[in-house]
Amino acid sequence: MSQEPLTEETKRAAAMAATVSVEDLLDLAAPQHGYAQRIEQGGFFEVMPGFFHSARRETTSYILRRHDLFSNAAPLDLGNVRPLIPLNVDPPQHTKYRKILDPLFAPRRMDAIEDDLSERANRFIDGFIGRRECNFSKEYAEVFPASVFLGLFGLPWEELDSILEMRDGIMRPGAADDAVELDPDKRLAIQRQTGARIYDYFDEILEDRSARPQADMLTGFLTTEIDGERLSREEILDICFLFVMAGLDTVSDTLSCFYAFLARHPDHQRQIVANPAVIPGAVEEMLRWESPVPSGAPRIATEDTLVQDHRVPAGAIVQVSYGAANVDPSVFDDPFDVRFDRDANNHIAFGAGVHRCLGRHLARRELRVTLREWHRRIPDYGLKPGCEDLVYPPGLRSVKDLMLVW
Ligand code: HEM
Repeated sequence: MSQEPLTEETKRAAAMAATVSVEDLLDLAAPQHGYAQRIEQGGFFEVMPGFFHSARRETTSYILRRHDLFSNAAPLDLGNVRPLIPLNVDPPQHTKYRKILDPLFAPRRMDAIEDDLSERANRFIDGFIGRRECNFSKEYAEVFPASVFLGLFGLPWEELDSILEMRDGIMRPGAADDAVELDPDKRLAIQRQTGARIYDYFDEILEDRSARPQADMLTGFLTTEIDGERLSREEILDICFLFVMAGLDTVSDTLSCFYAFLARHPDHQRQIVANPAVIPGAVEEMLRWESPVPSGAPRIATEDTLVQDHRVPAGAIVQVSYGAANVDPSVFDDPFDVRFDRDANNHIAFGAGVHRCLGRHLARRELRVTLREWHRRIPDYGLKPGCEDLVYPPGLRSVKDLMLVW
């Protein structure tokens, strides 16, 4: 890093920079060994001209802390017409948004929705428990977090399909049709169409909440004031757009990674069943190990700078790997042991610095409630015979069609 003297170790790291390829970074099924290898090789690489990758925890923390040098204002075109709020905004404007949004996602708000989460979890489990098998990805992981959003936004169950369609249109455009999925222009066209639908959909609900305020989060967006300022309608729509992406898929992906792990590790299952008090620790440890959001949104270098030993020119893209940072042996003892009783689990699966996940308390609550209700009702389960080969599609880390039996 620019302020630190160069050591022999960092010089060696620079020499090995050429050893990492884009393909190496795309292993989503079992990436942990690759993470460890990249840390050993020095931890900071120019993967291709103008594209840098950070694996070491210390370097990643530095990049995330120095948001003045590494900006988040990198345009992401996923069908949105303006920057995603707050992800693509830098301080000081970012600070204003987080001051408004953080209280709406505070732990005590999550206490208030705990019973609602349990009810929703059990409703989905009711749907398949008698069958003694399920497609966990489709029948639980993808639908539970979307239904939680119905509750937060004060929407009825009938709106579940609309929320799922909007999520799929942005996150999996053309998933049902290979010809579309492999064609970037067609995918973008679907994302744009869906984007327009998201803006209209939420605009209509916001119109209603302005006239008839309710005890829901959308009314909260309309009425919360910081330093005498409120969010504009456009700003709220940009936040809603990000929520459809960041708030739904992340939890779905995490759930499928957790259950793939548990289905293959019956001893860890038994620990939860025998003592549900381990659940909070289990959630943190599986977040660390699985790191379902493997890397951060691209950062753009705002000026020429040095990171470890490398010259990073202004305008270069810098990507941090949360997954690698979470198995860095300089931070974690025995990082390859998945231990539910690990103390001081200082993982960064929710990111770090000013952009640390806004929804982390909500996500944790959804994950804890799921583990609690599921293991209370389905204490012993595994992968369905014949479905042991798990597929992790491109994107965040998630398991496609995870088939479980009990
Ligand atoms: C287990 C589930 C989740 C994981 C692993 C996760 C992970 C992350 C990570 C790693 C970041 C930082 C991205 C970066 O710096 O590039 C982030 C940001 C964010 N997350 Fe989550 N997230 C989860 C659930 C949620 C939920 C439920 C919400 C609902 C509101 C949410 C909303 C956001 C938002 C709005 C940001 C941007 C924050 C900012 O830029 O200030 N996330 N999340």
